[in-house]
Amino acid sequence: MRLHQGSAGARVLAFGGYQPARIVTNDDLAATLDTSDEWIRSRVGIASRRLAAPDETVADMAVAAAGKALAGSGLSPADIDLVIVATCTAETTIPNTSAVVARRLGICAPGAYDLNAACAGFCYALAAGSDAVRAGSARHVLIIGAEKLSQWVDWTDRSTCIIFADGAGAAVIGPAGDQPGQGEPGIGPVVWGSDGDMADKICVPDRRSFIFQEGQAVFRWATTALHPVVRKACEEADVDPTELAVFVPHQANLRIIEALARKLGAPQAKVASDIVSAGNTSSASIPLALSRMVERGELASGDKALLIGFGAGVCYAAQVITIP
Ligand code: UT7
Repeated sequence: MRLHQGSAGARVLAFGGYQPARIVTNDDLAATLDTSDEWIRSRVGIASRRLAAPDETVADMAVAAAGKALAGSGLSPADIDLVIVATCTAETTIPNTSAVVARRLGICAPGAYDLNAACAGFCYALAAGSDAVRAGSARHVLIIGAEKLSQWVDWTDRSTCIIFADGAGAAVIGPAGDQPGQGEPGIGPVVWGSDGDMADKICVPDRRSFIFQEGQAVFRWATTALHPVVRKACEEADVDPTELAVFVPHQANLRIIEALARKLGAPQAKVASDIVSAGNTSSASIPLALSRMVERGELASGDKALLIGFGAGVCYAAQVITIP
């Protein structure tokens, strides 16, 4: 038997993001729900969110974000040999979204699979893609987090519908570290895990139900169990928290983001707060925040970024990456 020779490491080549056009403010929600702008801003940190049009699909948003990442990478569709879509809100279980997205982007016959690790999905997909590049089973991987959560929430349930939103983010990754001039591996080791004992804390109980969440239990878990995970991801990457330029946690709740940032011990690092204008877009939140920060010129090439996705399952994944 002959095995493929992979690359010493993998790195991100470009990011891309997409937000649907419709902006929904807290006051818009308060017009039909017993809530207020003040409550939502102070408890969750969201000022407004974007919601997809009724006929806009997860695949539509994935294609829009991925097209930008592909253009930014300088690669052509023919260079991509694996497409992974992280999503927990696909309209169809079969066909998988990734094969449809690849076809629409003109990527011919890549490996294609969907991955569901809920809000941790993008970091799981980044780890899987990076491992594929290192093992030699793929050379250039398109990784997408895309969600249409608006179709899974009960719009009369004020404890969930004010939080979740729609959008997509993507990254193109490729080999690094094994050729002179390619730079050091830019995607660090993943630190991941799960706790199925908490499976009922965020779930869609059956095919006819909406998202159910025990908010306080999830909040407590996120603010007490995850800081060792982010510190371990730094340790595994041999990056001290004081060397980080940016911390990009899943955009679940601004109070969770701030609590995690305080416990990380990286006072110099910028902290992504995309949730304020994007809401909680689950697996899309991290690549969307990154692409928007890059677009605004807030991140420089070579910056070290620490990512952590976490959510239903419950499951989580964290890694340090280098900004392309
Ligand atoms: O991305 C997946 C991971 N998910 C998360 O990380 C979510 C983590 N949890 C949270 O972000 C927060 O727990 C929530 C934002 C979901 C809720 O905030 P909270 O500060 O934990 O509020 P609570 O559930 O303890 O509710 C406090 C009060 C309740 O009223 P009573 O029983 O005290 O009278 C709720 O009924 O706030 C009420 N409430 C609201 N009031 C106004 C709940 N939602 C609303 C609302 N507007 N939208």
